[in-house]
Amino acid sequence: MPAISVRPLQTSDIPRVLKIQAACPEAASWSEADYHRLEGPQRPSWQTTVAVIETHLGQRPDEQMDKQLDKHLDKQLDKEIDEQIAGFLTCAAAENGDQEVLNLTVDPDHRRQGAAEALLRKLLQKISGPLFLEVRAGNRPALSFYHKLGFEKTGQRRSYYRNPTEDAIIMILSR
Ligand SMILES: CC(C)(COP(=O)(O)OP(=O)(O)OC[C@H]1O[C@@H](n2cnc3c(N)ncnc32)[C@H](O)[C@@H]1OP(=O)(O)O)[C@@H](O)C(=O)NCCC(=O)NCCS
Repeated sequence: MPAISVRPLQTSDIPRVLKIQAACPEAASWSEADYHRLEGPQRPSWQTTVAVIETHLGQRPDEQMDKQLDKHLDKQLDKEIDEQIAGFLTCAAAENGDQEVLNLTVDPDHRRQGAAEALLRKLLQKISGPLFLEVRAGNRPALSFYHKLGFEKTGQRRSYYRNPTEDAIIMILSR
């Protein structure tokens, strides 16, 4: 498993976030302007975060062995770190103060490596109280993911989504 860290979205991340969104038809479709709006100083920085995977560039198994043998090479490799954004999460507070996940998406090439879990756990460290979200009734990967993290179904909105028309499952993580 790669090392994954979570940090607030920066302006320079937005093109990559849009690319990930474009590769994921299940993701909520937001414009570039929407992401810029999320960045304002009036919003808590943890409401929009990215999951970052750090890899040592050019590191192959034989180089790993070199790394143990050659401290000089070790230093060089440590400098050559590639930061790849694997996914992102956006959340907002409703008028009653309840928090809602609006978008949680991981690049198809980086799934099942713990990126979504890292994003959600970072959010849970920052907020208190219940967390809500809506998900397409047919989105099995997302439903499995949210169940694993402790969310439960609390309602259903008939034909809530378009293209294709589909119910929304409302889920809550009670805390
Ligand atoms: C749902 C989604 C965010 C999960 O991202 P991810 O980074 O792959 O998830 P994680 O690696 O953190 O998975 C944690 C756990 O969730 C469950 N899970 C994740 N993806 C799953 C899948 N495709 N099928 C079944 N369970 C899954 C597993 O229990 C997994 O643990 P495991 O890998 O040890 O078995 C990702 O599939 C995605 O971006 N889908 C498209 C966008 C989307 O549907 N977003 C949600 C809209 S509300």
